[in-house]
Amino acid sequence: MHPMAFPLHRPRRLRRSAILRDMVRETTLAPSDFIYPLFVVEGRDVRRPVTSMPGIFNLSVEHAVAEAKQAKALGVPSVILFGIPGHKDARGTQGYARDGIVQRAIRAVKEAVPDMQVIADVCLCEYTDHGHCGVLEGGHVANDATLPLLAQMAVTCAQAGADIIAPSDMMDGRVLALRKALDEANQGETPILSYAVKYASGFYGPFREAAQSTPQFGDRRGYQMDPGNAREALHELAQDLAEGADMVMVKPALSYLDIIHRVKERCDVPVAAYNVSGEYAMLKAAAQNGWVDGERVMMEVLTSIKRAGADLIVTYHALEAAKLL
Ligand code: PBG
Repeated sequence: MHPMAFPLHRPRRLRRSAILRDMVRETTLAPSDFIYPLFVVEGRDVRRPVTSMPGIFNLSVEHAVAEAKQAKALGVPSVILFGIPGHKDARGTQGYARDGIVQRAIRAVKEAVPDMQVIADVCLCEYTDHGHCGVLEGGHVANDATLPLLAQMAVTCAQAGADIIAPSDMMDGRVLALRKALDEANQGETPILSYAVKYASGFYGPFREAAQSTPQFGDRRGYQMDPGNAREALHELAQDLAEGADMVMVKPALSYLDIIHRVKERCDVPVAAYNVSGEYAMLKAAAQNGWVDGERVMMEVLTSIKRAGADLIVTYHALEAAKLL
């Protein structure tokens, strides 16, 4: 008989009581693992529910501030801000305007909750009338022509007080472009959290309702990654690290737990994962129908993302989960 075999070994011995299980648990969650996304819109006293994301709202600036305060009170140290401008145009001008919606929201949150870490998502899709993540040339998203606009968005967000800049556009070379622009603007201390590995995913559906950023033609497969590719994720990772990314993100999370694991093994910087809108919506829908126990499944999902290797989790569940911890 193999020496490691039954009856010498009985793994159930360590599962006999809650105290014992707590003692030997390998992966635990804490509110400090979470980054909470906020969707900020123009206007006053707006708190409009996002239909496909129960519990999530389009918030005017003062409501976003209140939400950030609540996050802080629950021990969630960070929010990531998405701006939805009143006016969109072909070049996404409001994304990099000094007094754009996201820049104003950053200023307001930093003023009201100075020790909240404010992350600025840098991408043009919420700001362009065509809904693509960059400017168009001949019906195509032009990589190099988009870089200076993203750089300008990063700089205006950093100047507004953003603590971390998170480019999510998937243009090649954008980390280097942002790093250079930030350094030149005297923002050399501002770290970049790169969405290094971002797949073209159907799981972003509800986000596009929340951010009104559905592409008006075509899709994002020409710049976001193909779901079948894993080695390419490591290539993207290497490039972003070489360009100066301080932290990296994998997105979505649940269908890509293997990718989170591989990225974590391959690099020595903090790894974040984005538990995206569609993942949230599916869980909420099933819970509302009474088909799964919502709280239990939420904690299991978040634990799985951390167990796969994520140091930080961007999640719409942040406040709910923090309340349970
Ligand atoms: C792009 C961006 C998207 C998300 C975060 N940043 C949308 C997209 O790429 O279409 C999706 C997040 C989510 O689904 O929760 N600015």
